[in-house]
Amino acid sequence: MGSGPSNPEPSVLRALAAPPLAADDPVFETFVDDLGARLRRVFGAGNARALVVPGASRAGVEAVLASVVEPGDRVTVGAYGHFGELLCSLVERHGGALRRIDAAWGEAIDPDRVAAELRRAPPKVFAVVHADTSTGILQPLEEIGRVCREVGTLLVVDAVLSLGGCELRVAEWSIDAAMGGAQKCLGGPPGLGPVVYSDRFRRTLTARREPPHSAYLDLRRLERQPRSTPLLFGLREALRIVEEEGFEARWDRHRRAGGALVAGIEAMGLETFGDRARSAPMITLVRVPEGVIEAGVREQLLAEHGVEIMAAFGQLRGRVWRIGTMGTNACLPSVLQVLAALEAVLSARGLRIQRGVAVDAARAAFQS
Ligand SMILES: Cc1ncc(COP(=O)(O)O)c(C=O)c1O
Repeated sequence: MGSGPSNPEPSVLRALAAPPLAADDPVFETFVDDLGARLRRVFGAGNARALVVPGASRAGVEAVLASVVEPGDRVTVGAYGHFGELLCSLVERHGGALRRIDAAWGEAIDPDRVAAELRRAPPKVFAVVHADTSTGILQPLEEIGRVCREVGTLLVVDAVLSLGGCELRVAEWSIDAAMGGAQKCLGGPPGLGPVVYSDRFRRTLTARREPPHSAYLDLRRLERQPRSTPLLFGLREALRIVEEEGFEARWDRHRRAGGALVAGIEAMGLETFGDRARSAPMITLVRVPEGVIEAGVREQLLAEHGVEIMAAFGQLRGRVWRIGTMGTNACLPSVLQVLAALEAVLSARGLRIQRGVAVDAARAAFQS
């Protein structure tokens, strides 16, 4: 119940044990085509290019930025958490002239502010995180997409957390490049960076004055030479399961699981962190009550209940816990288990909690 990786389905784990295929094996070519089609569908990416960068989700994030940003290019980043900071640092590392639009941690960025900034001086790229795992906030993108299209800016979105767990419509929202994660709401293995990008985005890559500084993270090279790893078999199986469930049913399951968790947390008398109206369904931040040792609770949850929750990053470290409801864990039994365990651990540590109400509230909320 952490911030990912989530627990993959057993068939995903079995798929990982298949023998590797050589990259020049004709079977691999067919496999890559099928994987690409599945990725386009789960991203809602129309006829975009799809490929998978082996090497953690941030390899996909960096491949997109390394490939599109040329030294001196104007790039604006919307930052409202740790992964927005990652975007900023990657833009600078690849020589972009960075401009930031910041929101306080716990809030989303106001799309009207973005629109005004972009219209005033359109950058080449606007990059933003869809759901930032460090703050639990979901950034609305539709209006930003419309403005980017209007002013001729490429919209690049980190959808590592959100992919498969809530509505994401890359083509419809005019997103030019999106980077996902296999190991969160998709329930696949960690170690892969699936990405999709539009023709418009691709034309910018072709028009580069110089090749990207990174040889490995060059999307055009990765297009020509897809890398083969058995992790891809796990991803394909995860995507098969996602399609079998149906995208909207899966988004709804994540919404209900997140809602049930929040209902239980509040019934227990604890507080969540961040703007609830902008909260992502697949991760919930819970304020650590006064006098409670943050790390001690996590250790006891794991040791006594077999439940893992996560610490926070940066300015929130020690102040909140992060509880994930993603992939296989976005279900009532997991939510009830973490609530019952948290209640027991906090009670044992002297916090006055009315026992049983959290589980009841979560059960009721899950039905709605
Ligand atoms: C929103 C977001 N972006 C990027 C990443 C980086 O993923 P990885 O750790 O797989 O490189 C994460 C990981 O938690 C994330 O949550």
